[in-house]
Amino acid sequence: MRKIIMAGNWKMHKTVGESVALAAQLNAALGDAMEREMLVCPPFTALYAVAKALQGSTVQVGAQNLFPADEGAFTGEISPKMLLDVGCSYAILGHSERREYLQESDQFINQKLKTALEHGLKPILCVGETLEQRGEGRQKAVVSMQVHQGLQDIPAEAMEQVAVAYEPIWAIGTGQTATPSQADEMHSAIRNNLSGLYGDEVAQDVCIMYGGSVKPGNVDELMAQPEVDGALVGGASLDAESFVRIVRFQS
Ligand code: PGA
Repeated sequence: MRKIIMAGNWKMHKTVGESVALAAQLNAALGDAMEREMLVCPPFTALYAVAKALQGSTVQVGAQNLFPADEGAFTGEISPKMLLDVGCSYAILGHSERREYLQESDQFINQKLKTALEHGLKPILCVGETLEQRGEGRQKAVVSMQVHQGLQDIPAEAMEQVAVAYEPIWAIGTGQTATPSQADEMHSAIRNNLSGLYGDEVAQDVCIMYGGSVKPGNVDELMAQPEVDGALVGGASLDAESFVRIVRFQS
């Protein structure tokens, strides 16, 4: 069965105190069992405290990145083992901000996915095109390449643990959202890529999330699309009321 995943990406926001306060508010509002998977991805510094605050809650914790090694001389990096140790179950990998500002390549992202899966952390692979690429009509080709390279050598059996997030770069933090039909069309293209790689049965069960200016005002319409199975929410996940409304979308 296809999972519905609603995730908050807090990016480089919130101190430990602020993070715990937001987690407590979310837990109070969302802590009861729901059929949707819910998670928050605080900055590394707040992971331990947030996971503790959410212990026993249905709201899970994810990391925004990881380094693909168990341990070693990698100054400034964080391993999957460390993330599991502080209570993470998910990791966002290949976010466009990291691709752009930290020059992350598809090959490096692929290594991260493999390491995450080896450790039992569930990866959310982010893909998406720039405005320029869309202008040139290349959005499907760009995303297909990111999907193929990001998932290289990842076996079909592991795909149960993997989610893909389609995040058009021109919609991230800009207030400009892909229209529901633009999102659905791209999700369909991604699902076709997955079918080509793993066959229809596996592809049908992969959760494909949408990200890019998801807000309380547009979430219902986006989630009503047949190929949109979840949301990766940045700015609007920093406020409890708005994230709770998003998680409780009605379609
Ligand atoms: P946004 O960010 O919701 O602020 O556009 C989404 C993301 O980058 O994951």
